Amino acid sequence: MNQHAELISEVLARYDQSPNPRLAEITKAAIRHLHAFVEEVGLQHDEWFTGIQFLTATGKICDDVRQEYILLSDTLGVSTLVETISHAGSAGSTENTVLGPFFVPGSPERANGESMLEDDDAGDRVIIRGRVTNLSGEPLPGVKVDAWQNASSGFYACQQPGGQHSFNLRGVYRTDDDGTFAIRTIRPVPYPIPDDGPAGKLLKDNGRSWWRPGHTHLWFSLDGFKPLITHLFDSESDYLLNDAVFGVRDSLVRTFTTDADGELATTFDVVLDDA
Ligand code: BEZ
Ligand code: FE
Repeated sequence: MNQHAELISEVLARYDQSPNPRLAEITKAAIRHLHAFVEEVGLQHDEWFTGIQFLTATGKICDDVRQEYILLSDTLGVSTLVETISHAGSAGSTENTVLGPFFVPGSPERANGESMLEDDDAGDRVIIRGRVTNLSGEPLPGVKVDAWQNASSGFYACQQPGGQHSFNLRGVYRTDDDGTFAIRTIRPVPYPIPDDGPAGKLLKDNGRSWWRPGHTHLWFSLDGFKPLITHLFDSESDYLLNDAVFGVRDSLVRTFTTDADGELATTFDVVLDDA
C-alpha cells in the first residue's frame, strides 16, 4: 500500500465504532472525497491555508440574517442537487427550485387580483394567473400561495429596511373554489445575489456571473400535499442560461403577453404532489 492509501484507510477506520451509522457514513464519504480532491489537484500548503482562510471568512460574515454558507452551497450547485434528491416529485407534478434567502414569513393576505406593490415602482405591471390541481387534474381550492419578488431596483423589501415598505412585493393569496389564483405585480427583473462576501469573491475570481434571471418566488401549500417551493421565470430575461445559483428549470419559464384586457399577463398552472 502506498502512503496515501495507508493514511486514508487509517483515518476511515477510526469511524468504525461510531454509535451513529448515518453520521459515520456521511463523515467517511466526506473524508474519502476530500482526500481524493487534495490528491487530484496536488494541493500545496499555501493553497490549503487559503482555503482555511476562505472558510473562516465565510463563517465570520454569517449572522442571523446573512447565511454565506447557504449562498456558497447555492453557487456551487449543491443546493439544487440536494433539492433534486430530497424533494423529487411524482411524474406530472410541478418542479421545485431553491428557496433563497429572501423569504420572510408573515406576508399579508391579499385578495385574488390584488397587487403586491406597496411602493412606487417604475416596473411594468403584470398579472400572473394560475390554477392549482392534484395529480388527477382536480382543482384544489384553499391552497396558500405565498409570493415574493424583488422591486425593479433589484432589491427585495427585506434587503432595504426603511427603504421599501416591509410588505412591498410580498403577499399570501388563496386559490378559489375552482383552484385559480391571480397575482398582480411587476415584471421581475434580474438582480445580483449578495456579492460582497467570500461566495461572491469566489465567483468573481473565477470569472463567473453573480446575477439571477428575473423571477417571482411562489410557495404553494395545502394539507395533504407536498409543499411546493418554486419560481416563475420570465422567458425574456437575461441570465436564464447562467443563473448564478442553478435554479432555472425549463418547465418554470413563462412568457408575458398582452391579454384581452390589455394587461401584460402570463399563466402558471401548478400540479401539487401527494404528501
Ligand atoms: C433568490 O432567488 O432569492 C436567491 C436564491 C439563492 C441565492 C440568492 C438569492
Ligand atoms: Fe429571488
